[in-house]
Amino acid sequence: MQLDQNATRENWGSKLGFILAAAGSAIGLGNIWRFPYVLGENGGFAFLLIYIICVIVVGLPIMGAEMVIGRGSRRNPFGAFKALLPGSMWWVVGAIGILTGFLILSYYNVVAGWTLYYLFQSVTGGISELTNGEIASSTFNGFVTNGGLVVLFQFIFTFLGIFVVSQGVKGGIERYSKILMPTLFILLVLLIGRSVTLPGSMDGLKFLFTPDFSKLNGDVILEAMGQAFYSLSLGMGVMITYGSYLDRKTNIFSSTATVASLDAGIAVLAGIAIFPAVFAMGMDPADGAGLTYQVLPMVFAQLPMANVLSTLFFLLLTIAAITSAISLLEVMVSFATDELKWTRSRATIIMAAVAFVLGVPSALSFGAWADVTVFGLGFFDLVDYLTANIMLPLGGILIAIFAGWAWGNGVKKEMLEGSGQEKLYKVWLWAVRILAPIAVGLILVFNFV
Ligand code: PFF
Repeated sequence: MQLDQNATRENWGSKLGFILAAAGSAIGLGNIWRFPYVLGENGGFAFLLIYIICVIVVGLPIMGAEMVIGRGSRRNPFGAFKALLPGSMWWVVGAIGILTGFLILSYYNVVAGWTLYYLFQSVTGGISELTNGEIASSTFNGFVTNGGLVVLFQFIFTFLGIFVVSQGVKGGIERYSKILMPTLFILLVLLIGRSVTLPGSMDGLKFLFTPDFSKLNGDVILEAMGQAFYSLSLGMGVMITYGSYLDRKTNIFSSTATVASLDAGIAVLAGIAIFPAVFAMGMDPADGAGLTYQVLPMVFAQLPMANVLSTLFFLLLTIAAITSAISLLEVMVSFATDELKWTRSRATIIMAAVAFVLGVPSALSFGAWADVTVFGLGFFDLVDYLTANIMLPLGGILIAIFAGWAWGNGVKKEMLEGSGQEKLYKVWLWAVRILAPIAVGLILVFNFV
């Protein structure tokens, strides 16, 4: 089917630009903030292994499915399903994806705001005072319970997202990803160098790389799968959207393999940067969401050039957050420009504003709204759990089923475009038809029945 009403749609400037933008989406707070603490809470190496299996068995095929749906339709997630199977109900999957994107972006901006605050503290010299666990924890708690300040930094971060996305796909998202992603990598390598040379750091590496399978249970597996979806930005249409700006020469198989390897690689590197420091300082790896914000500043405070080190780290985290937040925002912006015919700047501002407002309860959920709980979870934890562990995997199953069963012959032609790899196509088709839906389905069913 020729979908030429979108002939004027923007394209990525280069394959490298696309890979860095997609890797930028995948590599985010999920790798450097979420992965280490979820791994810490779920027992270390056994979690890491299950996570990597999920990336290969479920993540890779579904990422391919998203990219091929995007490129085949050249639309946003909602419009993509409508264009590929007109008259069907599949657009609902795209609509739920856009809703999930709003929910993720809403609290993502909050955590990114924490990061900006710590960056600000680092630059102005406040970090060097956080010399022990008590001061570090009380500073973190003092900040996250201060709703006004948290919302202020959430607002500043939201503005950064608007700044990039309003400049377009090539001139905004791609341009900044090409600068920011290599910078992120260099910063991470510098920090690993510092962390693994701390006295006592070996215990951290042991924790990360020694298997303890006694910790494995259904919850751990669900967490690992949720983390894989979250970290790879799958299940809600980011990769559909980024795929929709892709030319027909690009090989989708090799692109997914590159993006997924970069993402998993950076998560492991982040673990290597963080756990040696956690153990060297005698902190508990299962400390939860505050782990990176409490432990690392304290580590830095005890080292020469504390503020320089902490500036580097929080800059790294800010960069990781921006390149992911813009991908979430781009999903909504592409929806509004394609379907509602809004201009890019209007779409960017309105969608970012909606996500900002939705994020305020999360911003307040450590302070003024700490007592508001649903199913025993605060607002922030609830949105995180619901999106990562339920909505993204569900979206992922449906996307796999669409590509594998519902779309029809078009998928083969589109997948072979730019690759020509028939054998790989057969493996991929088997994975999206059977392997991924069954694996994700079983994990979800076992956990909830
Ligand atoms: N992948 C991002 C991270 O690891 O921080 C977060 C994310 C972005 C999740 C986009 C989901 C998504 F659709």
